[in-house]
Amino acid sequence: MKAIEIRNKYIEFFKKNGHKQIPSAPLIPENDPSVLFTTAGMQPLVPYLLGEPHPQGKRLTNFQKCVRTNDIEEVGDNRHLTYFEMLGNWSLGDYFKEESIAMSFEFLTKELNIPVEKLSVTCFAGDDDCARDTISAEAWKKAGIPEDRIYFYGKDDNWWIAGEEGPCGPDTEMFYDTGKPACSPECQPSCDCGKYVEIWNNVFMEFFKDKNGYRKLEQQNVDTGLGLERMTMLLQGKETPFDTEIFAPVMEKLLKLQKVDNISSRRLVAEHLRSSIMIICDGGRPSNLDRGYVLRRLIRRMIRHLNKLEISLDELSNLIELNIETLKEMYPDLEKNKDIIKSVLIEEKDKFVKTLAHGEREFEKEVKKLEQKGENLIDGKVVFRLYDTYGFPPEVTEELAKEHNLKIDLEGFNKLFKEHQEKSRQGAGQKFKGGLADQNEQTIAYHTATHLLHQALKDVLGDHVKQSGSNITTERLRFDFTHPQKVTKEELAKVEEIVNKQIQRDLKVTCEEMSYDEAKASGAIGLFTDKYGDKVKVYTIGDYSKEICGGPHVTHTGDMGRFKIKKEESSSSGVRRIKAVLIKE
Ligand code: ALA
Repeated sequence: MKAIEIRNKYIEFFKKNGHKQIPSAPLIPENDPSVLFTTAGMQPLVPYLLGEPHPQGKRLTNFQKCVRTNDIEEVGDNRHLTYFEMLGNWSLGDYFKEESIAMSFEFLTKELNIPVEKLSVTCFAGDDDCARDTISAEAWKKAGIPEDRIYFYGKDDNWWIAGEEGPCGPDTEMFYDTGKPACSPECQPSCDCGKYVEIWNNVFMEFFKDKNGYRKLEQQNVDTGLGLERMTMLLQGKETPFDTEIFAPVMEKLLKLQKVDNISSRRLVAEHLRSSIMIICDGGRPSNLDRGYVLRRLIRRMIRHLNKLEISLDELSNLIELNIETLKEMYPDLEKNKDIIKSVLIEEKDKFVKTLAHGEREFEKEVKKLEQKGENLIDGKVVFRLYDTYGFPPEVTEELAKEHNLKIDLEGFNKLFKEHQEKSRQGAGQKFKGGLADQNEQTIAYHTATHLLHQALKDVLGDHVKQSGSNITTERLRFDFTHPQKVTKEELAKVEEIVNKQIQRDLKVTCEEMSYDEAKASGAIGLFTDKYGDKVKVYTIGDYSKEICGGPHVTHTGDMGRFKIKKEESSSSGVRRIKAVLIKE
């Protein structure tokens, strides 16, 4: 079965079971400062897992584009991927363990025709925070998994949370037995010898974790995730995802082009090329900060490994075309954005080629200095500068150093690297908290206008209106919100009128810091995505609007200008988009 067929079967199966399909959120989260990329299907759903009603109901399903870069160093082996697709289904306070397990079992054994003998499952063993999950174990037994293939593990294996704080809970995981011989008599699903491969994770999200520990959520949710590339590989009896149709055409092309054989490099190029294409397609651009930096790193690593394979960089354009050709059935947006994807990648390649040449010259200078001093260790600061300014990954510096019988201070480099990462993480947090990349008088006014618009939409259309995205430039504001149908001309006129009235009233804007709970209790609206922090800022505009937000805002609404809606359109299913301007008269 091809990946796209597995995806379609999955979505159809859950639709048949009462789930509504929601679109894949963009890889670049619009309103979540806590992560650089969308890393799981549940991520855009956090407010709903915490209790806000979702406009599409309590049963949802989708395929979600995801990027996880914590294992980037492992890419090149036979399984690690930075981009992957997660198939997911959710119960938002609707069904719980038994029904979720029954559906998973049916899907695996009836829709994908996986023999029961191939399946093992794991459940949460229980601890002080949460009882042993005998309910899940019973449900598996009832479905047909024999007791000796039901394992219990602790929080390390059977508890799921995105990051440090947030909604979480015990999970039950499904494993596929590849039929490889057991590595030892003790070999179990938790063993990573490769005999057992995790295929699906059902998280029973009924807890919320913060600094003070765990508390029960108001509702019992189910959040599941099934990795599409891995499932495709297993169902096709392939050893690695690189042998499936998702990667095979690019892998074969690389094999043809290479002058030096290196399977890890071929996999790395194929993997990073796909990730970069997907990120650029969703609006990512290489830069030296936060997510742009991750993209830059992916592209540079890919180029370096093309060099290792001694493949001419002039081939990049063909490789991009081939990869888009391979993926476009699954992601039709790629075809539409082909030109921009190509130009971003090729421009970055050209920059890197120049950088590499500079870097080599810098490296030679350092070598001379060391030789004069009679030393043989390249300082961590130098390794970091070569990395940061010249794009030399430390392993390249190390390789070059070896050629000169020198060593590098990797520890010193790692320390600086961590500091840098921390800084860029904070940078990302700051930037996305306010949703403002560039703060000047005009963008600040648009920011305040966004709050007025948000409240006015609620007043005119109803309380179901929730912000689902916001983007501000010096030219305009763009606001995405949940609403099931087109907003009529009359409604838009009313919204405009209300916003303009609030501007004319010259309302005072004030800001207070408080805890997340206090903010919620005070009636402040907002996405509550900053809840992970200690304190949130609540901005109040006179008696009209109260919203959680990182700011900044105008001090008085009077000078903002006249508010005019330019466009109302669909953004995605159940989400509308408004573009509006402030006209200074
Ligand atoms: N959110 C869960 C995961 O990523 C399903 O594994």
